[in-house]
Amino acid sequence: MRKVILTGGAGFLGSHLTEHFLTLYPKADFVIIDAMTYAARREYLRPALQQSNVTFVQASICNRREMLRQLRGADLVLHAAAESHVDNSYADSRPFLRSNIEGTVTLLQAAVENGVSHFVHVSTDEVYGDCRGFDATERSLLNPTNPYSASKAAAEMFVKCFAQSFGLATRVVRANNIYGTRQYPEKLIPKLIVDALAGRRFRVHGSGMARRPFLHVRDLCRAIETVVTHGDDGAIYNVPAARDYSVNEVVNLVCAAMHIPRESFVEHGTDRPHNDSRYGMTGEAIHSLGWEAERELSEDLPAIVQWYRENLALYLREPAQVMRMPARLGYRFVPARRGEGSTYVGSGG
Ligand SMILES: NC(=O)c1ccc[n+]([C@@H]2O[C@H](COP(=O)([O-])OP(=O)(O)OC[C@H]3O[C@@H](n4cnc5c(N)ncnc54)[C@H](O)[C@@H]3O)[C@@H](O)[C@H]2O)c1
Repeated sequence: MRKVILTGGAGFLGSHLTEHFLTLYPKADFVIIDAMTYAARREYLRPALQQSNVTFVQASICNRREMLRQLRGADLVLHAAAESHVDNSYADSRPFLRSNIEGTVTLLQAAVENGVSHFVHVSTDEVYGDCRGFDATERSLLNPTNPYSASKAAAEMFVKCFAQSFGLATRVVRANNIYGTRQYPEKLIPKLIVDALAGRRFRVHGSGMARRPFLHVRDLCRAIETVVTHGDDGAIYNVPAARDYSVNEVVNLVCAAMHIPRESFVEHGTDRPHNDSRYGMTGEAIHSLGWEAERELSEDLPAIVQWYRENLALYLREPAQVMRMPARLGYRFVPARRGEGSTYVGSGG
């Protein structure tokens, strides 16, 4: 590889992907493109940006002229930029249309016009919708149930058609929920940790019985490496975690890792307008390439808690991202207090 483009590189997955692929292709030039939304932190990229082969470009992937310029001469695009939080998509779906659909299409066009060799699109298990009673294969119907997953499913349709119509060599990765360090504390695990560290109570969506598989971000980086190096053009790869947990089980694990009593910390609130009961996927395609999930949430939690303890200032220093849930959907708006981090109702994403 001579030139790698990484979108969303200042976000959670993107920053880990940057480190992973820098090690894999140390001689390549890297261009990290990120619009620096609320979820991004330049600090995540500090070690990477010290390397002379890494360039950071603050731009939206919707910016056609910039994408055409940046993708010139690129061999590989790793596309991880997105609006990624389901709750936000209920509050206002339009940024999801722009970044996740229009942004993906803009990148795809720029990739075709520049003759990019490989385009890897990071998608989500949520495109399958509720997997009650079955595990989705890559051929299962896409049945998104929230505006975030609808935007990701729509983006995938464009990826598919650009492969078909223009011969772009695309590979799609559908991952389970990811966990690890540097995840913005709107998603379940970092929100639990940051709320506990900041002395706030945590509100669970509904009963907490919804189940979610959790995949370590480094397991996903290895999966994406496997897809880049051994995958097939035009193929889709589910990337399933080793096991799933109910939201209540995750809450209990975090409470145990932080030595806090659940009763004084957790309360139950209104559920989302719709909350899929479970996401389940088979992983034969990626397993046949030699990849397996290796990490286990309960073992990883102490180190993740420690990272948030040391980096809490990253999330407390800015004015809170205030999200206004439509009252008619039954959400309770929790106003931000000065000096606090994100302020919204709910448990994750
Ligand atoms: N977090 C999960 O559990 C999970 C699970 C499966 C798939 N995914 C997918 O993985 C990818 C990365 O998710 P994440 O959890 O790292 O999200 P994140 O919100 O932490 O990071 C997304 C990054 O994209 C950037 N971005 C958003 N809109 C942009 C735009 N228009 N132009 C340029 N940059 C923009 C943000 O600034 C941010 O740095 C997304 O495609 C998401 O759908 C995430």
